Amino acid sequence: MDKFVVEGGTRLEGPVAISGSKNAALPIMVATLLAPGETRIRRVPDLRDVVTLSRLLELLGATVRREEGDLVIDTSNLTSTEAPYDLVKTMRASIYVLGPLLARAEKARVSLPGGCAWGPRPVDLHLKGMAALGAHLEIHEGYIEAEAPDGLTGADILLDLPSVGATANIMMAASEARGVTWIRNAAREPEIPALAAALNAMGALVRGAGTSDIRIEGAVGLGAAAVDNIPDRIEAGTFLVGAAMTGGDVTARGCEPAHLTALCAKLTETGAQVTTGPDWIRVRGAARPRALKVTTDFYPGFPTDLQAQMMALASVADGTSVLTEEIYSDRFTHVPELVRLGARIELDQNVAVVEGRSGLDGAHVMATDLRASAALILAGMVARGETHISRVYHIDRGYEGIEQKLADLGAVVRRETEPLVT
Ligand code: UD1
Repeated sequence: MDKFVVEGGTRLEGPVAISGSKNAALPIMVATLLAPGETRIRRVPDLRDVVTLSRLLELLGATVRREEGDLVIDTSNLTSTEAPYDLVKTMRASIYVLGPLLARAEKARVSLPGGCAWGPRPVDLHLKGMAALGAHLEIHEGYIEAEAPDGLTGADILLDLPSVGATANIMMAASEARGVTWIRNAAREPEIPALAAALNAMGALVRGAGTSDIRIEGAVGLGAAAVDNIPDRIEAGTFLVGAAMTGGDVTARGCEPAHLTALCAKLTETGAQVTTGPDWIRVRGAARPRALKVTTDFYPGFPTDLQAQMMALASVADGTSVLTEEIYSDRFTHVPELVRLGARIELDQNVAVVEGRSGLDGAHVMATDLRASAALILAGMVARGETHISRVYHIDRGYEGIEQKLADLGAVVRRETEPLVT
């Protein structure tokens, strides 16, 4: 198993090219199930989650090939409607195949995603959405068994919560349902308009994506197309937090500043200078960041996927910070690991109070999930001595070429293979 060894005392400096978005690429890849033929998706990051989803699409009968930065997926011949546990358990986004399979094949058998490192993450809104479109669903032996023998029918669907996954799943299914579907209280995260643009390029009629009310006129007949992915706002945000907490100077190139408004506002509060251009953001960190208050929220609020990285920053900020997690109340597995590095964090339910220190101390820590891993790398950079982060396979799920990008910015990070202890 690989680990990262991070040498402390470095600052991030220079330009970094932002990769295509993982969270936008995954639903767009699945949307190809609705469009027989060969679809080309441009700017798909080379990540473990993308490989896992490619394997799932191949199991369903698709062919998937990478051509440099593009992914080319041919879904002309689907041969299966089952998403097995082995794949779904490693990547929750596999649930996305439910809607498109129901729409195209009128049935689907999809393993329920297992628990994850940070609390229960239900899929009830996905299921309710499919039921509203006329599907019959049963849970049997850990699998969602769904069918719609007479096809799906458009419906007016009010989501209890603006779930990104449920919005995407319903949008895809509704594109091939008879009649009009409205999704009310829809998620507004940038990944949703990105998926809508891809579906529309395939011939769908999705309007209002990016607002709370999305209208989908279904049964228009989708076909293969060439579609674009958007930049990864969380990857960009991670490097920019790194700049702010190391007194660095980083320009994230090829990103979309409008997607990172909440982060830029918070980094400015830390004393960093933030400047933006059409497709770049530059952050020049203060000598020491000031403490701050952060509350995660649905977009355009502060993203939960940057909460762990902000906690690393707060650990070395001047003053006491308060971080409140409103999306996933248990998403704090990074806290004990940051504490091992000397961070002073008091956790009370979903609120972390962080008393900033002038520096942390290198130690052995464990990456517990994707964004926690990123936070620990950043923390390692402001720690004295070496920080050893084990289980970095998490980071390979979501950060393309992370070591090279960090090295180009001046960080000293090396990957080592840990011997297996038997
Ligand atoms: C996506 C992102 C993830 C990010 C999250 C929130 C992908 C692959 N993952 O996850 O990185 O952290 O958005 O921005 O894009 N909920 C329910 N029932 C459901 C579905 C969700 O109660 O059926 C709740 C969740 O528990 C959570 C909230 O809704 O509290 C938001 O979750 P959701 O937006 O669905 O997250 P994902 O799409 O799974």
